[in-house]
Amino acid sequence: MAKPVLISGVQPTGRLHIGNYLGALKNFVELQDSGKYQCYFFIADLHSLTEEFDQKEKQRQILELTADFLAVGLDPKKSAIFQQSRISAHSELASILYPITPMGELERMTQYKDKIANQKENINAGLFNYPVLMAADILMYGTQFVPVGDDQDQHLELARTLARKFNSRFGKTFVEPKGLHTPTPRVMSLKNPTKKMSKSQPEGCLFLDDSPEDISAKLKSAVTDSGSEIKYDSDKKPAIANLLEMYAGITGDEMSKLEKKFKNSSYSDFKNSLAELVASRFADFRKKKKSLMADPVSLTVILKSGSERANKVAEKKIKEVKEKIGLI
Ligand code: TYM
Repeated sequence: MAKPVLISGVQPTGRLHIGNYLGALKNFVELQDSGKYQCYFFIADLHSLTEEFDQKEKQRQILELTADFLAVGLDPKKSAIFQQSRISAHSELASILYPITPMGELERMTQYKDKIANQKENINAGLFNYPVLMAADILMYGTQFVPVGDDQDQHLELARTLARKFNSRFGKTFVEPKGLHTPTPRVMSLKNPTKKMSKSQPEGCLFLDDSPEDISAKLKSAVTDSGSEIKYDSDKKPAIANLLEMYAGITGDEMSKLEKKFKNSSYSDFKNSLAELVASRFADFRKKKKSLMADPVSLTVILKSGSERANKVAEKKIKEVKEKIGLI
């Protein structure tokens, strides 16, 4: 029996933060290494054009994210690692899905509403149509599982809706995908525990390649809650709960174990321990990323060959789709 297909993408918009890691990439590596899935992981470069960018910087960001993927543990021998824009079938499938996508479904997307509130000078149609392209990315490969943070749930739901709609009108073509979450599907900002950690607010991010000094300084200045006890209470102590979740996300410890461990610690002791943990957890990542970034040609080769692999599957699917709807 063929293994179930799993796919996920990340936008090349800058350095990865610990939210990306604990919500998504850590899971990518574990799922890949379980050997239970046919894995596809891709650089969502077309999606990233919906935000302001510089064309020279974009090329660098694509290679940087490829280095991030590899440094974190994704392996081109085990997974197809590819670049979205190298596969024209993604855009073609999106065009085919637009006419079956109700405008209302797109208008109520929270990510769209957040983005247009945050980039008022650049409210573009790409932002509005984003979830349709994302549905195309997913449906293309017969995907059953999509490991993502919970900010992508609404988009995933649209992919399921579009799969059902298409199938009922044109016959069984797409699989309805399911999301996979880690125990930390939403890591919050270091500066504001009611807001998601996000690259668009870098001051609240802990980046995976931050130096140990930066990690320590950022955690020292991370907001805390009133009181002094290290206790997991997401209502009353949302900032400490967020830091505890980061700790547990890395070690896999139960909260009760961590509460015991830090029973007699001050906030500042706990933050120091977390800083040490994060710095040592990503020491190897920092080293690998640096050496991978020094060889951009090899990164491009990996992307090209992963894209060729994915393209074979995508070309077959887009042909099937066109036949089903009577285009060819
Ligand atoms: P992106 O690039 O914003 O984020 C990459 C992954 O990181 C997760 N994530 C988080 N998880 C926990 N806490 C956070 N603070 C946090 N911030 C980000 C995201 O949920 C995501 O899994 N739309 C996608 C890219 C995409 C995609 C796809 C994903 C395009 N097509 C098809 C899956 C399948 C995005 O913008 O991710």
